[in-house]
Amino acid sequence: MVWRILQYIRHQFYFRKRRGYGIHSPYLFGFINQVLFNGKGVKVPLSITQEHRRLKEESTMIGTGSPGMASKVAFSDKRTAASFVKGSSVSERYGALLHRIISWFEPEMIVELGTGLGISTMYMSSAAPETPLHSIEGNRERAAFAAQLINRCCPGPVSVHRGDIDEKLEDILPLLPMVKGRFVAFLDGNHHSAPTLKYTRKLIEQAGDEAVIILDDIYWSRGMCLAWKQISQWPEVRVSIDLFHMGILLLRRDLYKTSLKIMF
Ligand SMILES: C[S@@+](CC[C@H](N)C(=O)[O-])C[C@H]1O[C@@H](n2cnc3c(N)ncnc32)[C@H](O)[C@@H]1O
Repeated sequence: MVWRILQYIRHQFYFRKRRGYGIHSPYLFGFINQVLFNGKGVKVPLSITQEHRRLKEESTMIGTGSPGMASKVAFSDKRTAASFVKGSSVSERYGALLHRIISWFEPEMIVELGTGLGISTMYMSSAAPETPLHSIEGNRERAAFAAQLINRCCPGPVSVHRGDIDEKLEDILPLLPMVKGRFVAFLDGNHHSAPTLKYTRKLIEQAGDEAVIILDDIYWSRGMCLAWKQISQWPEVRVSIDLFHMGILLLRRDLYKTSLKIMF
């Protein structure tokens, strides 16, 4: 915890290029101004934010078991949905960012590793209701809860795959070349460094120029932080954007290789 706070303070001091000042690529400048800082004024549907707020009060008990790393929030084997949503799901702000990213890139497919209760899924799917979204969740109760939530709030071609990411990702990867690698992937499960490196590598191997990969909680632990730094240096990653709570990877080959820290 102390380490994370120190990293956050460092981030405040070392962030650069707020709102894209000094960035010459029109593509990147557009992304920072129109998407990150929402110059386009894209709004999440009210029904989605209302549902998110309602779930912060939801008292249904959900099992805490997960194939990935133990939560830093839950201490018993059951937890209310509200506690999960407040402690482990994306915030409204970051949910809205995911929504804008999807709305801007118009991917042909969305992949999510770590559905949780479906909050992030809901923000992404509502931005592209016709786009197939494949999300993987290892906890049976959460997967069922998420499937119901999506069905109720933004029914569309969303599949919640119940199982370990290690196995289920192998079923999804062959679908990516069919959309010429034009996908957005959101990695928010199994916050160990080795799986993060492995999943990102597998996704990059199927990615086209227009693919975008988003990693949540890049400062969750020292391991995640090292994985993020390593991934940012891979040659296929043209631009890495460190927002502290999330990291975004852009792969377009015509982009000048650069790593940005932005205060979001
Ligand atoms: C942080 S939560 C996801 C929250 C969700 N993305 C949201 O913002 O609403 C991470 C989820 O990943 C799942 N998970 C972790 N490791 C996994 C693995 N190896 N396979 C499948 N699911 C996993 C956990 O069960 C947990 O529900």
